[in-house]
Amino acid sequence: MYGKIGTKYPIWIMLIGAILLFTYYTFRPNQYTHPYEAQVDSVLSQMTLVEKIGQLNHLKGNYSTDIYEQDTDLEEEIQQGRVGALTPFVDLDQLIAWQKLAVEESRLGIPLLYAADVVHGYRTIFPVPLAQAASWDLKAIEQADRIAATEMSAAGLHWTFAPMVDISRDPRWGRVMEGAGEDPYLGSCIAEARVRGFQGDDLLQSNTVIACAKHFAAYGAPEGGMEYNTVDVSERRLRELHLPPFRASVDAGVATLMNSFNVVAGVPASSNDLLLKQILRKEWEFTGFTVSDANSLHEVIPHGVAANRKEAAYQCFTAGSDTDLWGQVYVESLEELVKEGAISEVDIDRSVRRILRYKFELGLFDDPYRYFDTVRLQQTLRRPEHLEAARSLARKSFVLLKNDNQLLPFQPAQYERIALIGPLGNSREYKDLIGNWSGFANPDDLTTVYQGLKEALDTTVKLDTASGCRAFGNCPEAMIEQARRVAERSDVVVLAVGENGYNTGECASRADISLPGNQEELIKVVAATGKPIVLLLFTGRPLELTDILNDVSAIMVCWQPGTEAGLAVADVLLGDHAPQGKLPMTFPYHQGQIPIYYSHLNTGRPRQGPEDTRWGVSKWSDVPNEPLFPFGYGLSYTTFSYSPPTLSQTQLSADDTLKIYTTVTNTGQTDGTEVAQLYIRDQIATVSRPVKELRGFQLVTLAPGASQSVTFQMTVEDLKYWTREMQYAVEPGNFSIFVGGNSQDTQTVSFSLMDDQ
Ligand code: BGC
Repeated sequence: MYGKIGTKYPIWIMLIGAILLFTYYTFRPNQYTHPYEAQVDSVLSQMTLVEKIGQLNHLKGNYSTDIYEQDTDLEEEIQQGRVGALTPFVDLDQLIAWQKLAVEESRLGIPLLYAADVVHGYRTIFPVPLAQAASWDLKAIEQADRIAATEMSAAGLHWTFAPMVDISRDPRWGRVMEGAGEDPYLGSCIAEARVRGFQGDDLLQSNTVIACAKHFAAYGAPEGGMEYNTVDVSERRLRELHLPPFRASVDAGVATLMNSFNVVAGVPASSNDLLLKQILRKEWEFTGFTVSDANSLHEVIPHGVAANRKEAAYQCFTAGSDTDLWGQVYVESLEELVKEGAISEVDIDRSVRRILRYKFELGLFDDPYRYFDTVRLQQTLRRPEHLEAARSLARKSFVLLKNDNQLLPFQPAQYERIALIGPLGNSREYKDLIGNWSGFANPDDLTTVYQGLKEALDTTVKLDTASGCRAFGNCPEAMIEQARRVAERSDVVVLAVGENGYNTGECASRADISLPGNQEELIKVVAATGKPIVLLLFTGRPLELTDILNDVSAIMVCWQPGTEAGLAVADVLLGDHAPQGKLPMTFPYHQGQIPIYYSHLNTGRPRQGPEDTRWGVSKWSDVPNEPLFPFGYGLSYTTFSYSPPTLSQTQLSADDTLKIYTTVTNTGQTDGTEVAQLYIRDQIATVSRPVKELRGFQLVTLAPGASQSVTFQMTVEDLKYWTREMQYAVEPGNFSIFVGGNSQDTQTVSFSLMDDQ
């Protein structure tokens, strides 16, 4: 219709148009030019459709039989270029053999990517992530993952399925052990630190791996805390609570994100275009690739939104899921869908590009074998400095909840006879103390509490042990009786109780979060001897401790501390180090309070404290409103005081930085580290705002009698939230600031944000 170029418009208009177009495409926002784009294009241009789809196919790299059993011939698939990544559970020789097959025998020689769940260490096992969060020590957490990356990359792995950044306020959910707890601010700081730890500054370094923020999204909010259950959250809650750690991971440059198993408001996360396209790609401009959760693309069928595997593939791919972990729905259906015109090859190319870029960034096209080096492997695993870092982080993660009459710390020769009682005191069931999601751990590496204490105590001290009962399930009365006799003849009792390693993790939801089996009975029987008791709680989640609180003098939450468990416990029990952890998740008074969290809304009828017994206020009639131990809580062997907080200004303008000052003093007799915490409350907003929200924290180490002034800084960015119109914005008005050592015991000061935005 328009004929040849130039016949309709004068040449100068065409020229200006061309310049404008060139300028637009060069400088438009979101323009993403990857350093390896030319190489990626060149590989892509040689690939057949089948080979492209192969890059989106991620298979298991072992021959285990479970619900994901593959009936494919793995080697044949590799040779045909029909697989892009593996989750191998094999030795280095096998990894090399498969890579060789991919590189030397497939048509284009595209290297494989090897992935694994290295969640809290590879062979040096650090405390479980929830415990790490209790340290609030971002540097130590980053260092833990730097070490995990160093070890796993030496073992030939390129990609970890970590960090898990799901926020959860339901301790019945077994996977709370894998995350950073209940708070999105703390969770975001930790997510960022962990991504940096794994990925380092330069993926070309052979001791870095690509990370994966999972599970996108809202997986931490299953109804009733039951694994894989329905999630139905408002968009506000999604954006305010569940998404911030993912956003922080993306901003920190995370390479990959993993879908979650759940639905969000009826739409499975794997086929959820609001999450995968609108939020992840458009709003956050994420340039990495997404991976499904294990078989989660196929699972849109039982979710009831796809009739068959082909429909599942279509829905998930068009919603924005790039790669298929173990489900093989893409490799089975995408080719046909492209040929039918339902999916465009351009879209396939886009996903393939995202994966190829990382294969280039990791240096695998230059040297596909660069991660395979037996000598490096031997020299890397469990190096002394790795063990020291794991032991130190375990110590920092312990949370002292109670210490009546300063029972702790013990002096090495203070007691002649110590009884170590409980199913977890000398357990060599390695997951018990090492914790779940530690697939590459060697149980022989574990130092039990018994071993740790034995090594640290003076040789004159007699250390008697009795398991007393089983960690899970019932036990014969004789076991408890034997423990009672051991307690009877001791000067002091250390009770090592809690959950075994399999009680937490995936598919380990519990409806009852009190101590499992006969453990409460054991505590009561031992308490009846009248001996002073220190309770060491090994757990991957908050438990309900109310019934045994008064039976013991001291409680220290040790979580699941990893391979160096016993050494770290001895360090703290014997006072070489003071406990410094603070709870990253509320410990309920009663499990009927769940979900219970510090940053709740006020309600229209707020209770005015525990003494408020009026009818018509928001409360339970049979249990207190308060938890047993609040978020941010934890004692030391010393005590700290805070001066009343002061502000640099009481009226804030848009460009100002508010400074909040307090002085922390060590008011006790020993060295200690305090986590000073800062919370805010937006007093009047267009929607109801939480009574407190964490906005800052700092670790302060002080000698007895010493003081340190602490300054927090806040800008208008820290006051933004999702307004009634769902804009991420700030509204002028009055704000309160709270400073203190936990979310409950704080001192307050106020300021106003001026209306000059
Ligand atoms: C879990 C993921 C994990 C994957 C691979 C799934 O069951 O939800 O967190 O990365 O398995 O092991």
